[in-house]
Amino acid sequence: MAAVERKRVLVVFHSHEGNTRSLAENIADEIGADLSEVVPEKVVPSGPMKYFWGGSQVMMGRKPPIQPLSSDIGSYDIIFIGTPVWAWTYTPPISTLLKEHPFSGKKVALFASCEGGPGKTLEKMKEALKGNELIGEEWFFAPLKKDTEATLKRARDWARDLMIKA
Ligand SMILES: Cc1cc2nc3c(=O)[nH]c(=O)nc-3n(C[C@H](O)[C@H](O)[C@H](O)COP(=O)(O)O)c2cc1C
Repeated sequence: MAAVERKRVLVVFHSHEGNTRSLAENIADEIGADLSEVVPEKVVPSGPMKYFWGGSQVMMGRKPPIQPLSSDIGSYDIIFIGTPVWAWTYTPPISTLLKEHPFSGKKVALFASCEGGPGKTLEKMKEALKGNELIGEEWFFAPLKKDTEATLKRARDWARDLMIKA
């Protein structure tokens, strides 16, 4: 009998304060995917200044330098991409990721962590990822802020269902 080829799956994410990281870790654990964090070379200020600083980075369309990824995007078949919502869209380090890495002909699933709503985050990511097949998109309320267990379970269920259909 011929061996069934196993699809290579990666969860790649940016997280400034840990919420998207906890979603990404749970998703990767649930579906047995590799995990890779997008780390900006310069750290964003914390405290109230982060809103001003982060928001202005988005408004100016910045693509800040990021550290080399621990995984080679090109070698995966299915890629989950996670971002915090900043100023109603994805973060500048994710902009850098999408610009610098070979996303093309992949199956992609998008997720976002926010405290109000995703705004245009998922639409804009889809726009930037044209040429890939979208297999799912979802947003979650910041799991470290409230309903941690329920939110992480929802993320796990969502990812598992997508993998069954993918
Ligand atoms: C600069 C900045 C801008 C933000 N803008 C939004 C926003 O437009 N809408 C929203 O719902 N949450 C917004 N938030 C809240 C984050 O999206 C939310 O806390 C998210 O869960 C953070 O993810 P992280 O912990 O992985 O960094 C913003 C946070 C920061 C730091």
